[in-house]
Amino acid sequence: MSAQKKDVVAVLRGVPVIPVLIFDDVETAVPTAKALVAGGLPVLEVTLRTPVARECVRRILAEVPDATVGVGTVLTPQQLKEAEADGVAFAVSPGATPRILDAADDSAVPLLPGVATVSEAMTLGERGYGMLKFFPAEANGGAPALRSYASPLPHLRFCPTGGVTLANAPSYLKLPNVVCVGGSWLTPADALKKGDWDAIRKLAEEASALKA
Ligand code: 3PG
Repeated sequence: MSAQKKDVVAVLRGVPVIPVLIFDDVETAVPTAKALVAGGLPVLEVTLRTPVARECVRRILAEVPDATVGVGTVLTPQQLKEAEADGVAFAVSPGATPRILDAADDSAVPLLPGVATVSEAMTLGERGYGMLKFFPAEANGGAPALRSYASPLPHLRFCPTGGVTLANAPSYLKLPNVVCVGGSWLTPADALKKGDWDAIRKLAEEASALKA
């Protein structure tokens, strides 16, 4: 694998699943993070899709020391700057614009950029990225597509997300070029709404039993 400037593989390796979190209520952040960590999934991606996301990141960082907290849905250089100021461990973008990549060059936060095609993956490989998010995974051919990437792109590794579930995760995790998968299925909206942390912990336990 090529040398990624800021090694996101080191952060993500060792867990089969990264929960992709969308918080609407700041009060749900800490109990959700505690349930996921208790269920064996300590690496968390808090998406910057809601107004409370940054406060959720700060609270989890302050109150759940066993969690490794990253931000997701990074769309602007400003979001990357804020994530660095907050002290996150990694940042994820659904794509990879020149502005985001330039900002990542100047940031201490390891970036996991998104790709959906071979050419995009090659371009990021040329720029020093060895680990990429494959998004949206299922809509782009799923595990068969990523399996086809392995031979011509042996220097690249992937974290597929988008349509990944407990049922189809094993088809990705068994591929030689997949480090982990990401998904939002660990935190169903009704469980978050009801405060059913036990349900979230159980979903995390099932997922953490998958082979990384
Ligand atoms: C992401 O940002 O990775 C996706 O929103 C997660 O996709 P999913 O909701 O299909 O798991």
